[in-house]
Amino acid sequence: MTRINGNGHTAVPADNRVTVFDTSLRDGEQSPGFSMTTSQKVRMARALCALKVDVLEAGFAASSPGDFESVRQIAMETDGPVVCSLARANEADIEAAGEALAPAQKKRIHVFLATSPIHRKAKLKMTRGEVTKATAESVAMARSITDDVQFSPEDAGRTEMDFLVEVVGSAIAAGATTINLPDTVGYLTPEEMFEMISAVRTRVPNINQARISVHCHNDLGLAVANTLAALRAGARQVECTINGIGERAGNAALEEIVMALHTRPEAFGLETGIDTRQLYPASRLLGELTGNPVPRNKAIVGRNAFAHEAGIHQHGVLQDAATYEIMHPQDVGVPESRLVLGKHSGRHALSARLAALGHSPIDDEFERLFADFKIMADRKQEITDSDLEGLVQEIVCPANRARDHVSGSIRAIYR
Ligand code: KIV
Ligand code: ZN
Repeated sequence: MTRINGNGHTAVPADNRVTVFDTSLRDGEQSPGFSMTTSQKVRMARALCALKVDVLEAGFAASSPGDFESVRQIAMETDGPVVCSLARANEADIEAAGEALAPAQKKRIHVFLATSPIHRKAKLKMTRGEVTKATAESVAMARSITDDVQFSPEDAGRTEMDFLVEVVGSAIAAGATTINLPDTVGYLTPEEMFEMISAVRTRVPNINQARISVHCHNDLGLAVANTLAALRAGARQVECTINGIGERAGNAALEEIVMALHTRPEAFGLETGIDTRQLYPASRLLGELTGNPVPRNKAIVGRNAFAHEAGIHQHGVLQDAATYEIMHPQDVGVPESRLVLGKHSGRHALSARLAALGHSPIDDEFERLFADFKIMADRKQEITDSDLEGLVQEIVCPANRARDHVSGSIRAIYR
C-alpha cells in the first residue's frame, strides 16, 4: 500500500518506521573540539543505547588505532543497536572495520566513495567508470564479512543524477542493503533534496532491494529541514547526531528530527523507536564529555527550550502550558517546565513560584515583595529560589519589617 505525501504528488511507502542512525561518535567526534577518549565514547554509546537508536556508528576503524579500539569496545559492550564502522572503498579499511566489529551482536559496514565531479577530479582522480567499479568491488568485499552493508556516494547532493543512479544501482547489485545519500557540504535546499530522493526512488531499477537513508550537513542551517524533506520523499533512515555535532557546522540534530516527527504526526505520519525521555540526558552527557555546553537557545535540549520569562508568556503557561509549549518538557527528559524569573516576569509568575516554595504572602506583603523582586531582577539576570527565600525573609519575617531597603518611590513604579 502507498500513501500520498503532504505535497500530494509523490507516493511514499506504507512503511512508516524511520531507522535512526546516530553518527555522534563518528562524524560528530571527528570534528574539531569534539574528540573523546575510548572510555568516553563507551559512556556515550551506553546513553545512545538507552535512547534506543537503531544504528550506532561507533567510529572509523581504519582511521587510527584509537578509533579501532573504540569501535571494538563499543562492539563488545553494546546491546541493542546495530554497531557500525565507516570504511573507505578499499580492502584495508573494510578488513579493519570487519575486525573491529567482530564482537558485535549486530554489525554493519558503511562503505563510502565520493561521486561528485569535483571530488572525482580534485580528490580521487578517478573516472566515472573507475568509481562505479570500486563501488561494486568494495560493497561485495564488505558483504563477504556481514549481510548488513551500507553504501554512501559521498557528495551525492552535487553528483550528476544519471551517474548517481548508475552508482547506486551497482552498489545494490553488489549487495548494499542501505543506500545513504549524503549532502556532504550542506548545499541542497529542501526542494532539491526532495527531488534527489524521488529521482533515486523512481530511476534506480533495483532500489526496492535497499533502504534509502539521508545524511545532511548544516552549512546553510538546513540539515534538519533537508532530512525531513528526504523523509517526505520516501527515505526511511536518518543519519544524525546528538546536539547536531559534526563536521564544520554539524550534522542534522537527532533530537530535532525525532521531536518534529513525534510532535507533528499529522504532517509526517512517521515514527521512530527513540525513547524521547532520554534526549535531554544524552544531550547533557555529550556536552559534559566533550566540554561543549549546549547553547541556551538550542531547540529541544537548550536550557531555554522550555523556559518562559516574559510576563505575558508566564501568565499563559501557568493557565495552560500549551499556550507557549508545543511539547511536554517531560517527554524529552526535562523534569519540569522552568519558569525563569527575571525582570520581565509578572505578578502571576512570582506568586506561583512563591506558592511552590510554600509561601503565601498577604496582599501588602506580596506587593512589597514584588517591588523588591523587580529591583533585584534589574541587577541579576535570573532570580533563583534562594534569592526569593532571601526576599521573603526580609519582607515577611517580622524581625525584618522595620528594615526597608527599598524606597517607597522606587516601589511605586512597579505597582
Ligand atoms: O558527509 C558525508 O558525506 C559523510 C559520509 C562519510 C557519509 O560523512
Ligand atoms: Zn558527514
